[in-house]
Amino acid sequence: MKIDIISVLPELMESPLSHSIMKRAQDKGLLQVEVHPLRKWAVNKHGQVDDYQFGGGAGMVMMCEPLATAIDELQEKNGKYDEIIYMTPDGARFEQRTANILSMKQQLLIICGHYKGIDERIREHYVTMEISIGDYVLSGGEIAAAVVVDAIGRLLPGVLNDETSALFDSFQDNLLAPPVYTRPADFRGWKVPDVLLGGDPKKVDEWRHEQSIKRTKERRPDLYDEE
Ligand code: ADE
Repeated sequence: MKIDIISVLPELMESPLSHSIMKRAQDKGLLQVEVHPLRKWAVNKHGQVDDYQFGGGAGMVMMCEPLATAIDELQEKNGKYDEIIYMTPDGARFEQRTANILSMKQQLLIICGHYKGIDERIREHYVTMEISIGDYVLSGGEIAAAVVVDAIGRLLPGVLNDETSALFDSFQDNLLAPPVYTRPADFRGWKVPDVLLGGDPKKVDEWRHEQSIKRTKERRPDLYDEE
């Protein structure tokens, strides 16, 4: 999968995408992420990509021209994107099911907003999907985009070592993940549940499923009700 990202602050994206599982996905050639600095398409030699908003009001708006030129150029080079995603607090809430769907695409473009956001005409004429990572406002779309890329990237076949492990994540099947333990079996008298030490995989599976249900009912009854 190839993900292109357009950003005014490309440095912000570097660290989250260059370690751990994201690094492995890219090293294995399963995921290719390229961050494009929007200033490359600035309207003047001062690197301008934003301007005052019509109608007045505080805050700058990201201009049409740099974004439109960037998208046209990238699309010409890479072919048509499956989705052109705009990261914005007024987008649809990002959920595991969105990550699952996006992980099956070949080519995505993500636009990171800044300031007051991007000119509405880019949303109307280019953007095919608008994503929010939650009901709060970040100072830009970069961290939100990194969240989306991470959630998608780890689902790509071959990225996780244990092929099945993504299936047991919280939110797959609308259930939260069960509790996990590691050595020692007794820490300060705090004991690991016997069933996990008993060596019966069927019983372990049953216990985990029960715990998932219990946890979901207690902590996220809204998810359980969707079942
Ligand atoms: N940009 C600013 N806040 C955001 C959010 N909550 N989700 C996605 N993009 C954003």
